[in-house]
This record gives sequence, C-alpha cells and structure tokens, in this order.
Amino acid sequence: MEKLIIDTDPGVDDAQAILMAAAHPNATIAAILAVGGNVGLEHTLRNALTLVEVVEQEIPVYAGCSKPLVIFQEDAADVHGQDGLGDVGLAPQTRTAESEHAALALVRMANESPGEYTLVAIGPLTNIAVALTLDPTLPEKLKRFVVMGGAVTAHGNTSNVSAEFNIFYDPEAAHVVFEAWEAHGGLIELVDWEATIRHGIPGDVIERWHALDTPKSRFYQKMSAKTLEFIRNIMGRSMMFGADPLAMAVALEPDIVTKAEVRHVSVELTGMYTRGQTTTDWNQRNGRTANTNIILELDTDRFFSLMEQGLK
Ligand code: RIB
Ligand code: CA
Repeated sequence: MEKLIIDTDPGVDDAQAILMAAAHPNATIAAILAVGGNVGLEHTLRNALTLVEVVEQEIPVYAGCSKPLVIFQEDAADVHGQDGLGDVGLAPQTRTAESEHAALALVRMANESPGEYTLVAIGPLTNIAVALTLDPTLPEKLKRFVVMGGAVTAHGNTSNVSAEFNIFYDPEAAHVVFEAWEAHGGLIELVDWEATIRHGIPGDVIERWHALDTPKSRFYQKMSAKTLEFIRNIMGRSMMFGADPLAMAVALEPDIVTKAEVRHVSVELTGMYTRGQTTTDWNQRNGRTANTNIILELDTDRFFSLMEQGLK
C-alpha cells in the first residue's frame, strides 16, 4: 500500500494525477499540500479542495508557499487557465484547508511515521525546500520521493529553453532539494519533461476517456478543454502531455518503469541562459554521489490504463 503525500499546484495535469491516485486500489492519499506554481496559491489551494470533493474522500489539504524562495519568473496560466482548472468556474462547495502550513505538516507526518510515506512532488519544490530547512533529516524519513520536474538533456518547456517549469519556477528550492538528497544518499525518482513528451497521450485515448461519460470523465473533459486547445494549436492535433500523471504512475506502480539511469543531477541557478536547468552528469565525471534515478521509459499501456481508472 502506498501512503501518498502529494505536493501539487493544480493544474490540469495535477488534477488528473490526483484522480489516478484516489482511484488506485493499493494507494491512499494521506495529505495534499498546495503550492504556488501553475497559478497562484489562492487558485491551487481552491483547486485542491475541489479535487478532494470530486474524489469524495476525506483528505486533509494544507496551504503551502505562495511564492518561490527568491524570484518569481513566470506561471503557466496560459496552459491551465487563469484559475488553473480551465476557467470553467469550479470551486469547492464545503471543504476548507487545514490551519497548519504545508511544510510543517510534511515535517510532522514524516516524523510521526518515519519510512511510511511516499512523497510525490508534482509542482515547484518550494514547500519541500522549506520542510528540509526545518528538518534536514527529512530524506531519511520518507519511504520514497517521486518528482515531476526537470529536463535531463536540456529540452525544457519554459522561456529559459533548457529549463522545465517546476524547476524554473523555483530553482533555489530545487537546488536545496537535490543537494539534500545527495547528502542523504537517497535517490529522487525523477520523471522529467522529456519523458513526458515520449509518453504523450494520443487523441484517440482522450476520446475514449470522454466517451466514458462518468462524473469524473465529464469533470476531466470540462477542466482540460482549454489545455487541449492550447496543445492542439501548438501540435496541430489533439493530444495531451501528462507530466504529473506520468510521475504519479511511477509512484503508484514502480514496476511500470522499463528503463532508468542513476546519475547525479544539479540545478543551475546563475546561468544567463540556463537558470533552472537540471544539469545531469551523464558521463559520471563530477565525482559526486548520484542523487537521482532518472525514469526514461515506462509501460505506456499500463500508464494509459491508470489514468483511465481515475476517470471511471
Ligand atoms: O512542466 C510540467 C509541470 O509544470 C507539471 O507539473 C505541470 O502541472 C506544471 O506544473
Ligand atoms: Ca503540476
């Protein structure tokens, strides 16, 4: 049984990842930690509460950091809508957030139950960097740590072209996180943007999901319409990129991975053109302890099935 703590900036693909996790028979969501990222925290927190109502489960939601540690550079409202879920007016009906800060909740839960929780980070790493500052031994108290972020051969998706959004939004936080895992000797299970592109979701699969005609598939179709249009305008065809669902698939079923490489990854902070780049020691030349298991390939059929399971 995977006991998940999900750190997230919902976000259309975050939403699908949470639907997947909530529907998985061998997983429970112990907490959702909201962070500023795709859109502002006021939206990501509200969206997290909406998602808990959609999945109809008693999941505590905690508000985390609203800004990056140092400098705000860009959000992703153009992809996800101004409100983060397609600007279709979704809002929680009854749920409210816990009073405890997300970083404090993470530290508390990890210390109450060391080795029990799998932390899945599918947004910027600000909350986790703050938690590490409060408790530097956090890596030793987590069962697993799965991250959606980075671009391990510098094919990014932001205005700093070698940087992926979750890292570029808060490079200092990502630096703190990758350095902490290097010091701890553990491995971050990293699902990057390039793996996301390699496992794109074709239009016929999306049509199959829409045809399910269930409350969750209707919710998905409604809140993802703007993102689908955004991608169609770029790619010239209907498809989706499921960055966060791909990371969630790895968290839910680690044996879904068919190819991975262990390497040292660091985060560039000062490059004029490379700030936020996940610089990967592919040739193992820097003499530093590997801190990352880079997920390269996974079973696509199982991936699509896990997402579909979340919409039924
Ligand atoms: O680069 C993709 C990541 O940025 C995903 O987590 C998406 O939700 C956005 O936050
Ligand atoms: Ca996200």
